[in-house]
Amino acid sequence: MRLDLYLTPVLLDKASLEQKTVVIIDVLRATTTICAALAAGARGVIPVAEPGEAAELRTKLGADVTVLAGERGGVKIENFALGNSPMEQTAETVGQRFVILTTTNGSGLFPRSASAALVIAAALANVSAVAARVASENRDTVIVCAGTEGAFSIEDTLCGGMLVHYLSAGGEPPIDMNDAASIALLLYRTNKQAVRATIEQGEHARFLAELGFADDIRIASDVDAVPLVPVLRDGRLVVDTG
Ligand code: MLT
Repeated sequence: MRLDLYLTPVLLDKASLEQKTVVIIDVLRATTTICAALAAGARGVIPVAEPGEAAELRTKLGADVTVLAGERGGVKIENFALGNSPMEQTAETVGQRFVILTTTNGSGLFPRSASAALVIAAALANVSAVAARVASENRDTVIVCAGTEGAFSIEDTLCGGMLVHYLSAGGEPPIDMNDAASIALLLYRTNKQAVRATIEQGEHARFLAELGFADDIRIASDVDAVPLVPVLRDGRLVVDTG
């Protein structure tokens, strides 16, 4: 199994994804929020790139079965029911409905990865469950860190490194990986006792804390709190049933 980690999504459009597993990570906050929505009983999360696309899709699917969620600049989009906070995802707000989600960095990566054999949403909240699923698939794998507006972000790289750690721990023969995967692994192994503190020092965490979303950072740092695996099926992220 070959493992490639992208520190930012810039290589995604050049990559050949057929026959591969793609894991998309946006710890702050898109993939954490996707896990929270599914744990709260949403029927699925439909990730789209743009707010206009989200609104059109809601009209098409019906207002009674959908909820619009997302952010720009970290704050809720005008006329959307929900922002991008995992705390907003409750049985009351999303239960039995499809969440149509658009975020600055993470949501648009899912449609861009649709040619892959399997697309998974990963965060610290579900990292062990994702590692087990990726290992069981045993295909070449691409881990895409969403980063922030095209730039590297420490929280996504740390989560990617944790995933690489689980996939390579005790691996025989040693896993074949790119240099970015090695760097992410190093970041995780040198900071594994201080996951939350490492995330809190990051630029995006500091930005979110200034906006009043410090609790989201705490939730996003809670390793394995939501042990489910969101997989993309027909454009919708649903809980993997194997
Ligand atoms: C994103 O996908 O761009 C992020 O989740 C932004 C945010 O923190 O809401």
